[in-house]
Amino acid sequence: MSVANNIIRADVRALSAYHVPDASGFVKLDAMENPYTLPPDLQQQLGERLGAAALNRYPVPSYAALKASICRHMGVPAGFEVILGNGSDELISIVSVACAKPGAKVLAPIPGFVMYAMSAQFAGLEFIGVPLKADLSLDLDAMLAAVRTHRPAITYLAYPNNPTGNLFDLDAMLAIIREVGDTGIVVVDEAYQPFAGTSFMERLPEYPNVVVMRTVSKLGLAGIRLGYMSAAPELLAEFDKVRPPYNVNVLTEVTAAFVLDHATVLDAQAAAICAEREKLSAALAAMPGVTVFPSAANFILLRVSQPGLTGTVVFERLLQAKVLVKNVGKMHALLDNCLRVTVSTPEENATFLAALQSSLNT
Ligand SMILES: Cc1ncc(COP(=O)(O)O)c(C=O)c1O
Repeated sequence: MSVANNIIRADVRALSAYHVPDASGFVKLDAMENPYTLPPDLQQQLGERLGAAALNRYPVPSYAALKASICRHMGVPAGFEVILGNGSDELISIVSVACAKPGAKVLAPIPGFVMYAMSAQFAGLEFIGVPLKADLSLDLDAMLAAVRTHRPAITYLAYPNNPTGNLFDLDAMLAIIREVGDTGIVVVDEAYQPFAGTSFMERLPEYPNVVVMRTVSKLGLAGIRLGYMSAAPELLAEFDKVRPPYNVNVLTEVTAAFVLDHATVLDAQAAAICAEREKLSAALAAMPGVTVFPSAANFILLRVSQPGLTGTVVFERLLQAKVLVKNVGKMHALLDNCLRVTVSTPEENATFLAALQSSLNT
C-alpha cells in the first residue's frame, strides 16, 4: 500500500483532477473570459501601483477599503457588506464547509456549474441535482418537491445559469426561496451578472436566506482571482469565520481597487460583448444544422442538429481549425450534441463562425 492509498479518502482517489486544456495557439473560446485587456495607459498606471505594493507584508485581512469600493460600485444595498474569496470558487467552498453539518445536503438544478457538486463532495455534503426541463428552464415543481423532501442546507441558483446561459424565471426562483424559508440558504450565483441586465443584489434586504455571489472573472479580471458575496450580516459573519485570513493577495487587492476606480472601461467592454452576443446568436440561428439557446451571459450554448453529425465531431473539427470551445455534450443528457462558446471580439467570433460553418459542411 502506498502512503496515498493509506491516507487519501477513497472518493478523492476516485476523482480525476479538474481538467483545463492547453489553449496555446488556439482561439480560446472555452472559459467565458473577456477578450479585452486594459488600455495601455491604465496598464502603465496599474504597473506603478503594483510596483509600490507592500509585498513584504501580509494583506490587512479586513480588506476594508476594497470591500467598501465593491459595495459602492456593485450595488450592494445599504447596511450590507461583502466577504471576498480567491475567486467565487473559494466562496462556494467556504459556504460548503460552513454548512457541512452531518447529513446536510446541497441542491441545484442540473446541468449547472460543476463546482457546486464538487465542493459539496469535498465538504462531505450530499449533492442533489434536479434536472432542468427540456427547454432548459427550471422545473419548479421538481425543485419545490426536492426542497420539501431533502430540506437542503444550500440551494444554488446560477442567474444566468452555466452552461445553459439562460436566466431562470424570477417568480420560480422566488417560490424556491420562500419554500426554503429559514431551513436553508439560497445562493444566487451571479457570475455572469455584467451581461445579464438584472440582479438579485437589491432584493437582499427582503430575503434573509439569500446569498448573492459574484466574481470579477467574467468582467475582465479572471487572472486576479477575486469573488465576493453578500448576505444578511448575521450569515456573512459566520462564513467569514471559515475564510482563510489572507485569502486575497495584495496584488489582487491593489489591482481590483485600481480597476474599480476605472469601472467604466470594464462596463464598456461588457456592453461591447453583449452587442456581439446578439450578432453571434443571430448568425448561429441563421446557420442550418445549428440550434441556438437564448443567452443572458457572455457565452452561447448551441446544439449541432445536423443529421449524421455529432457535437463531438464538430468540436474536434473546430480544434483542428485551432478554435477551442467547450464540448458540454457529455455533461448531461439535456445537453446532447451541445457546445458552449464564449462571446469574444468581432474578429474571433468571425473566425469561430467560419470554422463552425466549414465543420458542418465537411
Ligand atoms: C456559475 C459560475 N459560478 C462561479 C464560477 C467561478 O468563478 P471564479 O472564476 O470567480 O472562481 C463560474 C466559472 O465559470 C461560474 O460559471
